[in-house]
Amino acid sequence: MHRFQIPHKSLLGTSLFLILFSACASLGTPEDQDQGAALWGEMNGHEAWASFAGHEGMQPSRAPHGKFVITTINDVAAADQANLAPGSIVVKDNYASEDPSSLKASTVMKKIPGYDPENGDWYWARYTPKGELTHAGKVSMCIDCHFDADGEDLIFLND
Ligand code: HEC
Repeated sequence: MHRFQIPHKSLLGTSLFLILFSACASLGTPEDQDQGAALWGEMNGHEAWASFAGHEGMQPSRAPHGKFVITTINDVAAADQANLAPGSIVVKDNYASEDPSSLKASTVMKKIPGYDPENGDWYWARYTPKGELTHAGKVSMCIDCHFDADGEDLIFLND
């Protein structure tokens, strides 16, 4: 009997793989994409925002975020860096080299009350330098790795 089920199993395996794969390059729901477009606007001028203490300017990155990164935080986040309040936005510009023209992507977190209570209420996004969204919403790839940050806030740089 079990033999007859094998084709079904592999079909199921294939579709599971496709589902997981497309979840990795995740653009979330239409609302997530609207949020991403709005957030790109809110990020306007972020190059002049504050930094996490001790992480000012361009820094080598230990993450998959590019060889060098510049991380900036909005006023809400800067007000209490250890306990980022709702409305906090953290922008990480990812560079291939120390050359400021080598910007590859911007990876961004915004804390939205009630958005994702199990995962710190963070909304996640990744943009090309032109502002095209490549990832948006509850992006499991981002969340899974950021869970390793101390303080259970999914933020590394304030640890
Ligand atoms: C494999 C691990 C890993 C993945 C995947 C990852 N990050 Fe990160 N991220 C880090 C680490 C480590 C840092 C700390 C700074 C550094 O070394 O660049 C960081 C820093 C950040 C920061 C600055 C705030 C902080 O936590 O210090 C933002 C914003 C950010 N990541 C966004 C994202 C987004 C958005 C995604 C998904 C598109 C993502 N990250 C995927 C590991 C990861």
